[in-house]
Amino acid sequence: MSACTPETAELGDEFLPLLADPRYHDYHYHGLLDPCDHASHQLAQLRAIAAGPGGRALAAREGLIPRGLCVFSRLCWDSELLGRSIWQLGPVLTADGTAEAVAAELLERALTAIEAEGGEVVVAKLPAEDLHAAHRLCSRGFYQWDTVLTLVHLRGAPRPSGSPRCAVGPFEDEDLPVLQDLAGTSFQANRYYLDPALRSDQVDDLYATWVSNYSRGLLPGSACLVARGEGRPLGFLCWRRDQLLFERLGLSVIGRGLMAVAPEARGRGVGAALVAATIAETEARHLAAEFDCVLTASNAMRLYAGFGLPMLRARQTYHLTVRDRPRNPIA
Ligand SMILES: CC(C)(COP(=O)(O)OP(=O)(O)OC[C@H]1O[C@@H](n2cnc3c(N)ncnc32)[C@H](O)[C@@H]1OP(=O)(O)O)[C@@H](O)C(=O)NCCC(=O)NCCS
Repeated sequence: MSACTPETAELGDEFLPLLADPRYHDYHYHGLLDPCDHASHQLAQLRAIAAGPGGRALAAREGLIPRGLCVFSRLCWDSELLGRSIWQLGPVLTADGTAEAVAAELLERALTAIEAEGGEVVVAKLPAEDLHAAHRLCSRGFYQWDTVLTLVHLRGAPRPSGSPRCAVGPFEDEDLPVLQDLAGTSFQANRYYLDPALRSDQVDDLYATWVSNYSRGLLPGSACLVARGEGRPLGFLCWRRDQLLFERLGLSVIGRGLMAVAPEARGRGVGAALVAATIAETEARHLAAEFDCVLTASNAMRLYAGFGLPMLRARQTYHLTVRDRPRNPIA
């Protein structure tokens, strides 16, 4: 066995030195997290992935010293709704000075393990600036399907004044059919629609289920605001709380949601009213609100820019269709 052959590992604190790269720290912005908490929070995130169904951490060591790490597990909800066995792959993280061959071997072993478990599609999300990692994924047959920008409102940050042009209130049960219809028709620029390995009618259902689960508060800290006009829902903005951050450090950051306005009501300030109401909600109850948006959704980008929301990160999403992966790695 070579010194660095990857093996299944328990994620103990000896892996902390591998987690120093701020590009992989979700909450490094605006001093939200104390710098010494970044790595330990990321380790907790990786442990949560490895503890998922079929989940595992693979580590490469030199003697007892960790040189590289990669975690993966099955995405149950996505798999069930899209009728394929879909897996998430965490970043391949290495210690400074580690040879690329170690990272490539970790990736290869992880994909082999996922395939052995019946995995059909693998999803990986990377900070856009990690070009080495992008090249590594592409050389193993991954395709990049979208770039997701995250903007933030931090409690206490300045916000535009002015009265909303549309009434916004909490979700009510009778809103659900309209919201599901809107969710199932508004996100065609997102990765699940773009990947030809997946069926678009099932992706419609995934988005409809997403808004339904968040609106009805089925996930911890999830909620939905609805804009109304002419006696009917015109649009919605939903979110959930980052539960790991909340449980570990008591910080309430909301995001990971969806926003859509009915096509015939767009361009009249409905989206702006929803964003303003979410910011007001954040001022009252949370530390920060994150707004995700695919790079190609130019209306949403203009809307967020109008609020002066700073951009936190750009993440690229890669998918691999496992049966198509190259059997001879490209160097
Ligand atoms: C993004 C979206 C929610 C915006 O909703 P909206 O109600 O049209 O947005 P608003 O009318 O409040 O626009 C607010 C600002 O954004 C800009 N804007 C939005 N749409 C625009 C358009 N078609 N042309 C020019 N500017 C536009 C304008 O600056 C506008 O401000 P102003 O009209 O006061 O000058 C809507 O286009 C949508 O549902 N898109 C599909 C789903 C999506 O992309 N969701 C976002 C990611 S989850």
